[in-house]
Amino acid sequence: TSGPRPLVAGNWKMHGLTASLAEIEAIGAGYAALGASVELVVCPPATLLAAAAAIAARFNLGIGGQDCDAQASGAHTGDLSAEMLADAGASYVIVGHSERRAEHGESDALVRAKASAALRAGLTPIVCVGETRAERDAGRAIEIVERQLAGSLPAPIAAERLVVAYEPIWAIGTGLTPTTNDVTSMHAAIRARLDALVGASAPTRILYGGSVKPSNARELLHAPHVDGALVGGASLTAKDFLAIAEAAL
Ligand code: G3P
Repeated sequence: TSGPRPLVAGNWKMHGLTASLAEIEAIGAGYAALGASVELVVCPPATLLAAAAAIAARFNLGIGGQDCDAQASGAHTGDLSAEMLADAGASYVIVGHSERRAEHGESDALVRAKASAALRAGLTPIVCVGETRAERDAGRAIEIVERQLAGSLPAPIAAERLVVAYEPIWAIGTGLTPTTNDVTSMHAAIRARLDALVGASAPTRILYGGSVKPSNARELLHAPHVDGALVGGASLTAKDFLAIAEAAL
């Protein structure tokens, strides 16, 4: 299929101690053997970012943060700026993950500010959107995601420095996934919305996230309009994560 190089990104969430750097090393080594026709990124917790980036650089493996503040610096105890993530070796940052939207009350407007901050710092934001189970059951999934996109995308948008991740909330960590048809129609709607906003959005990759594992990765990753995956649990071990990366080829 034509289109941008697929991107498989691993979101480690609040998992990983120093010992897990061995997994980064194993992911890097496996990636080197896989070849560069898929782009691979790991988003470890911030405590491991710099050490992970030093390892990843040897393998052309990308590193991303899991969140950033909208400001560049200042009196914001406990927060990390996009500039700090870039300085530690990140090239991506996830913004607007549903866990942050739910647990930290992040609004679309704040997610947009964070995505814009990522661009300002030279990072590529991975902007997450997705509906709840109740919203899908009510037939409102596409409408909800379109509204999140309208409010959360950075301004101005640089199509080649933007990734959108569609993560239905009910599919995260549950083992449940939407049907391939539902993934395809959602991704097509996101693409149409991006085209309307950016003109030609072709370089913007649209990832699917939510219970991606080696056994379902091939079907999900090769569904029309799917340009990669954002992987949670299955990105914690090199074996599973590499199997998913391979399925993207
Ligand atoms: O950001 C990725 C994530 O939310 C999906 O998690 O564990 O269902 O792959 P998981």
